[in-house]
Amino acid sequence: MTLRATTREDLTHLARFENDLGFVVAGGGDPPGPVPLERLQRDFDKEASDPPPDKVEFAIEADGSYVGRCGLYNIDRTARHAELGIGIGEREYWGRGYGREAVGLLLDYAFRLRNLRRVWLEVHADNERGMRAYRSCGFVEEGRMREHVWLAGRYVDNVIMGVLREEWEGSGG
Ligand SMILES: CC(C)(COP(=O)(O)OP(=O)(O)OC[C@H]1O[C@@H](n2cnc3c(N)ncnc32)[C@H](O)[C@@H]1OP(=O)(O)O)[C@@H](O)C(=O)NCCC(=O)NCCS
Repeated sequence: MTLRATTREDLTHLARFENDLGFVVAGGGDPPGPVPLERLQRDFDKEASDPPPDKVEFAIEADGSYVGRCGLYNIDRTARHAELGIGIGEREYWGRGYGREAVGLLLDYAFRLRNLRRVWLEVHADNERGMRAYRSCGFVEEGRMREHVWLAGRYVDNVIMGVLREEWEGSGG
């Protein structure tokens, strides 16, 4: 598994993932809706020529193919924290340790290379697979917004998880 820069060719795979309702609902993010490839290309071109300062995103490559993306978002250089996001869109790669490995690499990048001191994320309470992967990388539950997410027919809690640099170092980082 490799984290690398996203290429324009990856976007056809990304469009397939973003239009897979099962993947979008599993992540529980934006309300589902069709995502045109052209929109992804437009956003990619814009960010390639003018990279946003508060965001770093990587492609996740496994067995030579683009299987998803992950990154640090809302990077706050004053308080030195960032929000972690990840989505493996290729379903046959779920539950095989790739998420845990990618999150581990992102934490190493955040703490050792970017000198951040806290990484946090949001995950809906039904995403057991995600929470287990995050816990195994050192994240702990910090809070819970009750019935905050409308998940295709019902409300579920939104869980806030975080890990501090010293916790990550203490666990062998
Ligand atoms: C969430 C996600 C990144 C996790 O990555 P992954 O590679 O699937 O996860 P891993 O294999 O590294 O770890 C999964 C953990 O859940 C467990 N697990 C696997 N399948 C499971 C299932 N069906 N239900 C519950 N737990 C499961 C694994 O045993 C492992 O836990 P352990 O380390 O305690 O043994 C990935 O599944 C994904 O992108 N899902 C769709 C979108 C999404 O949920 N994005 C995250 C939004 S916060």
